[in-house]
Amino acid sequence: MTAAQGKSAQGKDALRIGIAGLGNVGASVFRLLEEHGDLLQARTGRALRVTAVSARNKGKNRDIDISGVTWHDDPVAVANDPEVDLVVELMGGAEGAAFDLVSAALALGKPVVTANKALLASRGAEVVALLKKSEGGTISFEAAVAGGIPVIKGLREGLAANGIKAVYGILNGTCNYILSEMSETGRAFEDVLKEAQDLGYAEADPTFDVDGIDAAHKLSILSGLSFGCLPDVAHIDMKGIRSITPLDISFARELGFCIKLLGISRLTEKGVEQSVEPCLVPKDSAIASVGGALNAVYIDGDYVGKVLLTGFGAGGNPTASAVVADIVDVARGRALPLMGIANENVAPLQPANILERIGSYYFRLMVLDQPGVIADISAILRDHNVSLESVLQRGRDPDQPVPVILTTHETTEQGVQNVAAEIGRLKAVVEPPYVMRIEEFKD
Ligand code: HSE
Repeated sequence: MTAAQGKSAQGKDALRIGIAGLGNVGASVFRLLEEHGDLLQARTGRALRVTAVSARNKGKNRDIDISGVTWHDDPVAVANDPEVDLVVELMGGAEGAAFDLVSAALALGKPVVTANKALLASRGAEVVALLKKSEGGTISFEAAVAGGIPVIKGLREGLAANGIKAVYGILNGTCNYILSEMSETGRAFEDVLKEAQDLGYAEADPTFDVDGIDAAHKLSILSGLSFGCLPDVAHIDMKGIRSITPLDISFARELGFCIKLLGISRLTEKGVEQSVEPCLVPKDSAIASVGGALNAVYIDGDYVGKVLLTGFGAGGNPTASAVVADIVDVARGRALPLMGIANENVAPLQPANILERIGSYYFRLMVLDQPGVIADISAILRDHNVSLESVLQRGRDPDQPVPVILTTHETTEQGVQNVAAEIGRLKAVVEPPYVMRIEEFKD
């Protein structure tokens, strides 16, 4: 590289960037850095220049010109390239090349920018250990949670003065899209999922999204940042959206709610409660109005109160926006500790017992329409000290099970599980009760 290429107009050295992974997001990052080259140089005082790339397939058409950039078949070579000051890891996955690349970069004291939530969620302790050993290496990961929404910056910087009480929200766009479509059209889960797959919104194997795993990874990172601890996916109570039916959507609406898959992390006196689950939320609440594939994150701080951030949680351009924001930080010489507190103070998360969690609940029961069924169900609720808030029954058919919907006043999760198990054993109840939490965000 010539001196003229290496220095920006302001005289500072250009920041030389190596990108490993040129999928949708990687190609968008490459394009953004080119298209906004002048703007970013004005903002950072340095030229931001991609000098090396690596991806699985060199010949793939990505609508970007990589001809002037060094190509590496081995992604780890991007970290070792002496013409690379900053490594951008966009391959994903907690195992293999992504981890090796991050390790190599940190061993050389190079900053890393990544969108890799699985790496942080599953191997947070190892990543912190690598950071402690690294001389000058940092990891920035704005794009790992909620795509283009600056929630990491929100927590780690904008709200750094607050004790965080809770962080919760819609963390998976695929599920939000499916639930929004079910709600708007009355169609069944499988039907909407199939359409989303045909349109390319949902993966061919939707497990990661619809079973709540993706949202749990993101929530674990938000918990870590909120409470200064390591991400801990193992202590997230996780349920997906496969069991939600049009009946639930329509009964929820009748009761004044809509259904959202929420990640919820709350600090209690007994530790951190973490869950990913479909919840009933008041239909006039701000979070209920976040539809389609959008994400939304609430942060509840002791001085600031509740802050709501919403926007696109996925997609090439929104995610590239977050990746490049981190690159801008590096170019400006800004470095922040991984979990918002000094790396040596990052501790394991103290999980609260989720069974002691308090809340109101929705039950969907399919029962034979016989005299005495509601009396039996009421007796079970009474025996477990669970107080009924409302009962709805629709239809009358002596030959077919009919839906009965119950909502409860506040009770413990343990109480609800006991009640559900016992109701499920009644002869007149023909399928296991389906239970959802009602979240009114009162505290
Ligand atoms: N598949 C995720 C979603 C985006 O649907 O929100 C990547 O985490």
